[in-house]
Amino acid sequence: MNHDSKIYVAGHRGMVGSAIVRELQRRGYNNLVLRTHGELDLRRQEAVERFFATERPEYVFVAAAKVGGIVANQSALADFMYDNMIMEMNIIHSAWQTGCRKLEFLGSSCIYPRLAPQPMKEDCLLTSSLEPTNEAYALAKISGLKYCEYLNRQYGTDFISVMPTNLYGPNDNYHPEHSHVLPALIRRFHEAKTAGLDTVTCWGDGTPLREFLYVDDLADLCVFLMENYSGNETVNAGTGKEISIRELTELVAHIVGYTGAIVWDTTRPNGTPRKLLDVSKATAMGWTYKTELADGIKMTYKDFLENPTRAER
Ligand SMILES: NC(=O)c1ccc[n+]([C@@H]2O[C@H](COP(=O)([O-])OP(=O)(O)OC[C@H]3O[C@@H](n4cnc5c(N)ncnc54)[C@H](OP(=O)(O)O)[C@@H]3O)[C@@H](O)[C@H]2O)c1
Repeated sequence: MNHDSKIYVAGHRGMVGSAIVRELQRRGYNNLVLRTHGELDLRRQEAVERFFATERPEYVFVAAAKVGGIVANQSALADFMYDNMIMEMNIIHSAWQTGCRKLEFLGSSCIYPRLAPQPMKEDCLLTSSLEPTNEAYALAKISGLKYCEYLNRQYGTDFISVMPTNLYGPNDNYHPEHSHVLPALIRRFHEAKTAGLDTVTCWGDGTPLREFLYVDDLADLCVFLMENYSGNETVNAGTGKEISIRELTELVAHIVGYTGAIVWDTTRPNGTPRKLLDVSKATAMGWTYKTELADGIKMTYKDFLENPTRAER
């Protein structure tokens, strides 16, 4: 990839896509092709084929997806499968047909088996059953990953994938029901602080352990892999560090400035006790995360306050 290479970032207004654009520009890649959802609905095969035939991007990052937390996933299984499956197939297929030199597909650690040994290595993919609440999303994402591998094997393409842990950062989705845990906590504590509430109730008992990666660190790895990695097996993207949901909740409350009580509703489910990625593969390539969680949450909260439109999603 050189500074004149034509690069398409699908989903460039999303949290991951916008971070990849920032990172590419920071590294001097300025020949970017970008289309909003309104300009190009990636579920429309003919429109995607026309776009690729006209623009012929040499490098493609697939960061467009229908993404959501547990509630959104569970309530729209069919939509999560259809949208993700068709979008990624359209992009990957057209990229191959128009001679794309390299493509990078965004997976997600939530598509690893529900009971995978912890910390999860790249080779645990498809070794046992999926988490039922996001099975539709996982099946679609696994298909995208596998389609990249099959194209490499059948046609010699150089299509790779990356498997991020839970992400957070600027441009996140703060929808009250459709967001992930960290942006949801930011919103709830901000609203509780603003309304002067005495208590905030959280689900479960706070014991599950989770890992969080600042999205700019992921973007750094994504561009690094596009420049340096080829292979059929995916690459985990995480910090290798975990924090309990209780500690995370207290940290977010502290950063947001909420001073009331936090109550744990133990009648609600906890979810998987532990979810951590083994990041030794990326580490062996010389990559490591840079942003500590408290610093990343401070930057994310600042972005939340400065971008009310995004916060309203
Ligand atoms: N967020 C996480 O914690 C996390 C963790 C691991 C992996 N990932 C992966 O990272 C990727 C990006 O996630 P994200 O968090 O950046 O999601 P996001 O903020 O919701 O961004 C997704 C982007 O895709 C676009 N998009 C959705 N449907 C489209 C369509 N039919 N046509 C064109 N564009 C469409 C969205 O545009 P509109 O908003 O205009 O619809 C948005 O810009 C996903 O593959 C996800 O699995 C995310």
